[in-house]
Amino acid sequence: MVKAVVLGAAGGIGQPLSLLLKNNPLVTSLALYDIVNAPGVAVDLSHINTPAKVEGFLPPNEGLKRALTGADVVVIPAGVPRKPGMTRDDLFKINAGIVRDLATGIALNAPKAFVLVISNPVNSTVPIVAEVFKKHGVFDPKRLFGVTTLDVVRASTFSAEAIKDPSLANKLVVPVYGGHSGVTILPAFSQAKPALPASFLENKETLEAITHRVRYGGDEVVKAKDGAGSATLSMAYAGASFVEKVLRAISGEKGVIAPTFVLLEADPAGGAVIKQEIGGDIAYFSVNVELGPAGVEKILPIGKVTEYEKSLFAGALAELETNIKTVCAFR
Ligand code: NAI
Repeated sequence: MVKAVVLGAAGGIGQPLSLLLKNNPLVTSLALYDIVNAPGVAVDLSHINTPAKVEGFLPPNEGLKRALTGADVVVIPAGVPRKPGMTRDDLFKINAGIVRDLATGIALNAPKAFVLVISNPVNSTVPIVAEVFKKHGVFDPKRLFGVTTLDVVRASTFSAEAIKDPSLANKLVVPVYGGHSGVTILPAFSQAKPALPASFLENKETLEAITHRVRYGGDEVVKAKDGAGSATLSMAYAGASFVEKVLRAISGEKGVIAPTFVLLEADPAGGAVIKQEIGGDIAYFSVNVELGPAGVEKILPIGKVTEYEKSLFAGALAELETNIKTVCAFR
């Protein structure tokens, strides 16, 4: 029996994400919460002939509490998406408050749940959730995750396209490290599985172009949607695939590896290796983790990267640190 909860379920990401979770046989109960329209989305999804029982909640009558009670996994795509011309700071000011209030609800009603944060800026919203949980004395770094899966999905898609091998489209995986915005996004094409050809890895111009596209893939969608939102469908796909891994780990499957933005303290020994590898003392970083029934079991080392990739790491640390520290000002 697994209860999944989506906070912000009526939104551009929330709706397709809820659809994908309704379609996941590992979910037996699905609670949808939003400040608008969640009951409608829930009734619509409830007509789909899959096992999950779906319920929708609005704020009145302790809706948040009822949605969260008994939750195993809580996914947060609530907030506002970026619009053309909006700065990161504008976005932070609005979403930080929303995420803080929802995190308070989780701390009070589902403190043991796995919390997956999609709301941007992830580099800052994840530390906000941590601070709220600490304030309530229920923080467990092993159960808090920033969802960076879309960066991996984009890096994999764009490089498979670049080498013109459609058979690799759903097989290629390019690890991405760092954070989840601009220069903090560090795709490691040299670690792709299956390996990318040397002709690709040695072509600096192509690598730079694709790295840029992965880092600013969100802008590409914001521009193409022309004011009607940011990435929603690809994000829902990426978010659902992360939830699927979490569910498999909860159900006892061994060796489930997922990329995510985590507090390195979640696995102190593994975290120390990462700090050594990147040459910086950062609190949070996107890494590959091994998941288990209690959350992060191991933070996996980055391992060998090329000199070019290493040079990108240096540029990311200062920015990432600033993003994480923004939270202190907010607090
Ligand atoms: P949207 O505006 O379409 O949906 C957001 C939903 O959140 C709305 O239904 C809204 O009513 C709801 N909401 C607002 N305040 C709430 C509250 N206090 N409690 C519950 N629900 C609340 O936005 P969209 O496109 O779904 O994006 C959501 C977030 O995801 C944004 O912050 C966006 O930047 C982020 N995002 C993250 C990505 C990632 O890779 N992690 C990729 C793309 C977007």
